[in-house]
Amino acid sequence: KRIVVLISGSGSNLQAIIDQIDSGRISGRIAAVISNKEEAYGLTRAANAGIATTVLNHRDYADREAFDGALQATIDAHSPDLVVLAGFMRILTPEFVRHYAGRLFNIHPSLLPKYKGLHTHQRALEAGDAEHGCTVHFVTEELDGGPLVVQAATPVQSGDDADSLQQRVHRLEHRIYPLAVEWFCSDRLRLDNGQVLLDGAP
Ligand code: GRF
Repeated sequence: KRIVVLISGSGSNLQAIIDQIDSGRISGRIAAVISNKEEAYGLTRAANAGIATTVLNHRDYADREAFDGALQATIDAHSPDLVVLAGFMRILTPEFVRHYAGRLFNIHPSLLPKYKGLHTHQRALEAGDAEHGCTVHFVTEELDGGPLVVQAATPVQSGDDADSLQQRVHRLEHRIYPLAVEWFCSDRLRLDNGQVLLDGAP
């Protein structure tokens, strides 16, 4: 399977997926990494892995529609089976999201449907939650609201602050994102009428 990964920053989730591909645990390859920020460290990670990179700066486009149109054309030049948002800090137009229906993943640092949007770790702490975590989901028009694929949770400890929680959740992200990508690449996972179907699940 052909994968295109979209990033805006560090790209540690991208790295986790690269590592699992390199070790043969994901039956796919990353055709391209696209960033809206030229300083994103994930671009260096991609280059180090020999993956083609493109920077599309949203500031070079008149509006969201123009940017997303250019982004879509850049992605589609690689004919991907799966598009992976890995810390891509842009809200996408409904047209873009519909175009990739059933083949667009995101990872979000909360146990969705809790804490859509930003500052999830701080919000989980302030709510006094006993556990916190992350979610891989299919992207739909509702921000952070698409069908859930897989989640991982960690207990909130008494000494936790937003940083310590974020670090722990990040490590969980690196475990579940490659897993979801592998399910998709091996045709075990698909979206069917808005329902997530996972073959061989217990
Ligand atoms: C992660 O926390 C992810 O949940 C969020 O953006 C961050 C990306 O981190 N969507 P990285 O760039 O993969 O290190």
